[in-house]
Amino acid sequence: MYYPDEIIEEVREKNNIVDVVGERVRIQKKGSSYFGLCPFHNEKSPSFSVNEPRQIFHCFGCGASGNVFTFLMKYENMTFQEAVQALAERAGVKLPEQEQSPQAKQASNRRAQLLEICKEAAKYFYVSLREERGAQGMEYFRKRQLTDETMQRFGLGYSHKTSSDLCKYLKSKGYDDKLIIEAGLGTFDERYGMHDKFWNRVMFPIQDQNHRVIGFGGRVMGDGEPKYLNSPETPIFDKSRNLYGLNYARSSRAGNIILCEGYMDVIAMHQAGFTQAVASLGTAFTEGQANILRRYAQNILLAYDSDGPGVKAALRAIGILRECGLSGKIIHMEPYKDPDEFIKNLGKDAFQERIDKAENSFFFEIRIMGREYHMDDPDEKTRYYHAIAKKLITTFPEEVERENYLQAVAAEFTIGTDQLRKLVLQEASAGITVPQRPRSGIQKKDTDTSAVKAEKMLLSWFTDVPGLYKKVRKYLTPDDFPDPVFHKVAEKLFEQLEQDQVNPASIISTFEAEEDQRKAGSVFNAQVGDLKTQQDKEKAFQDLLCTVKKNSYEQLSASLAGDVNALGKLIEGKKMLEELNRIHISMDDLL
Ligand code: CTP
Ligand code: MN
Repeated sequence: MYYPDEIIEEVREKNNIVDVVGERVRIQKKGSSYFGLCPFHNEKSPSFSVNEPRQIFHCFGCGASGNVFTFLMKYENMTFQEAVQALAERAGVKLPEQEQSPQAKQASNRRAQLLEICKEAAKYFYVSLREERGAQGMEYFRKRQLTDETMQRFGLGYSHKTSSDLCKYLKSKGYDDKLIIEAGLGTFDERYGMHDKFWNRVMFPIQDQNHRVIGFGGRVMGDGEPKYLNSPETPIFDKSRNLYGLNYARSSRAGNIILCEGYMDVIAMHQAGFTQAVASLGTAFTEGQANILRRYAQNILLAYDSDGPGVKAALRAIGILRECGLSGKIIHMEPYKDPDEFIKNLGKDAFQERIDKAENSFFFEIRIMGREYHMDDPDEKTRYYHAIAKKLITTFPEEVERENYLQAVAAEFTIGTDQLRKLVLQEASAGITVPQRPRSGIQKKDTDTSAVKAEKMLLSWFTDVPGLYKKVRKYLTPDDFPDPVFHKVAEKLFEQLEQDQVNPASIISTFEAEEDQRKAGSVFNAQVGDLKTQQDKEKAFQDLLCTVKKNSYEQLSASLAGDVNALGKLIEGKKMLEELNRIHISMDDLL
């Protein structure tokens, strides 16, 4: 599945990042760079910059960074291969045919066929709703106060009363039974032969993030069981990795995502202007979905049903969000059941107020916990406070965060701060183990250690003042950069510096993962600081070099501890460090 490096580089060179970004984000030239509002986080003043000579972008607010491929991957939610393909097409570069195994080819053909048949079915349902025969469906949606525009936007449809309508239609279009069954649109029955999975229901096509129909939900019009019928999972319909409404919510600029339970809730919210609403697909919210949401927002607002099961589902979702490093808040719907009913009764302004007043998810958990205790009984009250202390410990392993929450909880639930702190200590010493939170490979916005900062800045110096490299190359190797991404960046950059051809953007595309690209991109945006005189600069550079070398030496000696054969290596390293401290690196000829 890999394209050759030269082709990737050709595609990159033929797509000026300023144009590709400019087609999607309003940017303006200021000095040598372009600036605009960052599309990857919510902001009021522009901190998103595009550097044309270097062909990279960087946001000083959220740290997003990379080249034209990274931008597209992030903005359009594409894989690296997809970004290469899209930009190749944009620039008219012909990509070599992908070498695929026969099985892989077959699987991808099958997926394409499934997408095609789902699209065909969606069209059929869509047209049916607008025909004479679909009047009942239309009436149902009208009664639920959906406008024509909304119905069109969500591609809503109708499946007829006759139970093999769709199958017949699809067959007439040349699709075979096997595909119809695999797509979850029909079933085969000994007695009745092929018949439709969905009939006499209003239809909600489920789209992936790129607006492709991957499955359906169908609702009975009135009472009846089951209320909703959903497509089964298929090779294109993975319920744990898709969210209803995300195809629109991803480009909402609300700065948050509203997560709810129902198709109708999503639609009602979008119709009221809350286009950041999404729902899970008739199944519980998953970690996979949380990971997808994280690409679009840090704050997730839960608009779950206000009944028992809704609260339970919300508690589960809060746990998942927290695991994934996202912050959750609860939108309260009382006295109504769900967002759809709320908006219908109280309107969008009232809903916006509820959003503004959304409750911190930890407070919500504590409050729900409180329902199990009778507060007018002193013993129960004590037990409740103990439970709060316990929950503080297990939820917030980090001390600072825990203390902040402790104070907030004490104030919110009118408990003495010192009293609560005492309970926490008591519970902690009673042996509640603080869980090492499995971070699911996710880090909160990373704060660089000083070592990493130094590595980045040193590499950044070389791109700013390329001549420096040859002066110090005998002291430095890529191995002085232990982090795998920086190691590779150093390796490529040093190669380029040897050939006097520095090209940061091409280095970034040697990484496939968006996160690695961001990290690589951040190297070329490291701020060296405001240094006025040549002397200051020489000093700063030398300090950096020594710091990086020293860190690398310390790592080496730690890893070689006890290895007698490594003594020579260590002595050599030590000597080099001393020499580096002594020498003077002049920038006379460079600045
Ligand atoms: N659901 C489902 N199968 C059911 C019931 C519900 O898949 N038998 C899923 C659907 O995705 C539905 C969501 O769970 O949208 C929420 O269900 P519920 O709260 O019962 O329905 P509402 O969304 O309120 O639907 P409506 O307003 O149409 O009654
Ligand atoms: Mn409802």
